[in-house]
Formats: sequence, C-alpha cells, structure tokens
Amino acid sequence: MKIQQKIEGNVAKNCHPLALQKMIQKQIAYINNAGSIYGPKKVLVIGSSSGYGLSSRIALAFGSRSDTIGVSFEKGPGEKGLGTAGWYNNIYFKKAAEQQGLIAKNFIGDAFTDEMRCQVIDYIRHGFGGKIDLVIYSIASGIRTTPDGKKYTSTLGVRCGEFSGPSFNLESETLSTQSLSQVSDQQINDTIKVMGGEDWRLWIDTLREADVLAEGCKTIAYSYIGPESTYPLYRNGTLGAAKEHLHDTAEILNKKLMADINGEAFIAVCKAVVTKASAYIPIFPLYISLLYKVMKEKKLHETCIEQMHRLMFTRLYPAMGPVITDTERLIRIDDLELRADVQKEVEALRLKVTPANFKEISDFAGYLKEFNELNGFGFEDFDYNQDVDFQKIIELAKLT
Ligand code: NAI
Repeated sequence: MKIQQKIEGNVAKNCHPLALQKMIQKQIAYINNAGSIYGPKKVLVIGSSSGYGLSSRIALAFGSRSDTIGVSFEKGPGEKGLGTAGWYNNIYFKKAAEQQGLIAKNFIGDAFTDEMRCQVIDYIRHGFGGKIDLVIYSIASGIRTTPDGKKYTSTLGVRCGEFSGPSFNLESETLSTQSLSQVSDQQINDTIKVMGGEDWRLWIDTLREADVLAEGCKTIAYSYIGPESTYPLYRNGTLGAAKEHLHDTAEILNKKLMADINGEAFIAVCKAVVTKASAYIPIFPLYISLLYKVMKEKKLHETCIEQMHRLMFTRLYPAMGPVITDTERLIRIDDLELRADVQKEVEALRLKVTPANFKEISDFAGYLKEFNELNGFGFEDFDYNQDVDFQKIIELAKLT
C-alpha cells in the first residue's frame, strides 16, 4: 500500500510510520551539532511522544546523555489504521537512544491514572537505578478522567465576552473568521481540571512519597503567555485559566520539594510553535505563521527542538550558577517571540491579512511544512511512492 496524507481541517488523520524516522533524525542531528552539556542523568518525561515533550527528551538524551522514561498516550496500528505519529516517534527515539547506550523506556497509556504512576515507580525502582533527577510535565489533552473516575473535558473559549478573528484551514488552505464564545464557570473549571496543575502535583506527590526523587530533583511544566494580540484567545481564555493554575502549582511544588529534598519546581514559558495541540486552537495557527515569517526573516526562528535546547542548556542547566528565571520565577524562553521589534512587525502584518493574501503575508508554507513533518509527510528525501507492507508496520510497532 502507498500512504497518502489525510488532513481534516487542522487535524492530521494519518501518519507515515516509516518517514517519521526522518523527523526524529532531524531533531537528533540538531542536538548533535549544538554540542553537549552537563545536565540531568535520569529523566522522566510525561507527555513525551510529540511536541515539546519529545524535543525535551531528545535534547537531554543526545545533549546530556540522559537516560529517559517517556509516558504518552498514543495508538498503534490496527484495524482502524496505522496508528498515531507519537507511537512511531517513541520507537525511533528509543532505537536511536539505545544505539548510544542510553536507557529509553516507553510507557504508553493514560498518564492521568494512578495505575500509570504505579507502573512508572515500579520501573524506576527496579529498572532505572531507583531515583530520577528531572521530571518534565508536557501533556496537552482535551480530556481527563481523574483517579476518582470523573471525566472532564476542556473547552476552548473566552472568560469574558466573545472573540473573533481570521483562522486558516490547512485542509482547504483558506482563511475564514472563527469565533470563540464566552464559556461558563463550569467549563473554565473543567478546563483547569484537564490542563491545570492538579495532575502534575499528583505525579510529584506520588513520586516523592515513593522516595524515587533524587536529592536536588527538579520538575518543570510548560506554559504559554504570548503577546497582547493573543490574550483574548489564550491568556484571557480557558487555556490561560488552566495555565494560571499550573503556575500556582509550581509554587506549591517548589516549597514542598525545597523542604523535602532540596528540589525545585519551575514553569518554562515557551514560544508558540507548530504542534498537534497548537494547530487545534482556533485563530492561533495564523498568529504562529505570522510569527514564523518575522522570526525567520530576523534569523530568530525556533521550532520545538531549538526551544528545548536553549531551555535545557542555557536556563534550566546553565553552565554556571542557578536556574535563570524572571522576577516571578518563570523561565522565559519565549523571550525572542516577545521581543518588541518582532511583535511590532507581527502586528503590522496581522492588520493587513485578508483571505486573498494570507499565504503571502504569513509563512503559511513553512507552517504547513512543519505540520506535515509532524506526521511524517513532506520530507524531500523520502520516497512516498514506495509500497509499504502493513505486516512490517505491525512488526515495527511492536518495538515500542
Ligand atoms: P503535543 O500535542 O505535541 O504533545 C502532547 C503530549 O501529551 C503527547 O506526547 C501526548 O501523547 C501526551 N498526552 C496527551 N494526553 C495524554 C494522556 N492522557 N496520558 C499520557 N500522555 C498524554 O503538545 P505540545 O504543544 O507539545 O504541548 C505540550 C505542553 O507545552 C502543553 O502544556 C502546552 O500548553 C505547552 N506549550 C505549547 C506551546 C505550543 O505552541 N505548542 C507553546 C507553549 C507551551
């Protein structure tokens, strides 16, 4: 069979299991060229199969020779299709890391459950040397079932009023107006349940009680603030409410970890990048493609891997001294995105965007290329006309 790309709206409906290796190799090559550093040796990444979690794992394994455990929620091949890109990312990462003599253990399942926490702790004790020194929390999800069995769904919406803006559709390559409505208190609270800090705290509390966090262990979760033009759809929206909760959780965890094991908890405020999760947010992809246009012109462009390299090696594990934060104890790796000259140009472009010119005005092509690559499509040096044997994919998928 030949695998042709399928996109519905801004959602990828399939991936190319073989070509995804290119995506992993590209990120590893970046880190190999960027040079090594002294970082953590035993790392747990929760949300490790794509986006920022995957790039964190690659940056640390190949930049700092870290052994890693990854937890992710992905689907393998079966009757319903070839499975999700993250399933294969886990396999290709593991293969490459093991070739370097590193431990790369993948847990695939629901990170929101106590069962997953137990499995990971058991493995840390019996297969990973007993202690970890960094926990990365990088989950993006629309639903969460809490350990008491209640299911929560997040909503993308604004906390006050309504917000409309131009939004592009990757499938039809068109631009149209999309609106975000005001949400109820219940919807805000449910979004906080899914994307706030509660589950991160459960992980850290459980790991601490199980005595598997090393002295001085750090934990970090990822957040977004963005420029004022995006406040209505992000910072002042439901996602912003969840991120406020995440930031408050970092302070609680920091106090506890400090007192118990001389540990620390941080929030890294990251840059807007193309990922499965960000493509799903209405209006946001257009902002990202305008940002890409300006940052590429200024030679400041960063994708997940460049961001995570800079985060790990210049902020969380700088060559000398403590972790580098702002006055609110946030690690600001969104500094280049928020530079005044960058935002001034993005804003000027945004005001000129129309359905007729958006592809020229923004870096739509660059956005689409990165989106395609997330799912293993669009690599120039890969033969997409080759026949793929489904049985071979099934065998490959077992390597996770
Ligand atoms: P992504 O969609 O690429 O990755 C999400 C990860 O979460 C995947 O590994 C997925 O398997 C995992 N996951 C989802 N539900 C799970 C579950 N129930 N159990 C186990 N794993 C699960 O997302 P992205 O964009 O990398 O987001 C990661 C974090 O970075 C989020 O907190 C997001 O808000 C933050 N961030 C993202 C930005 C962006 O522009 N993409 C900007 C700044 C922050």
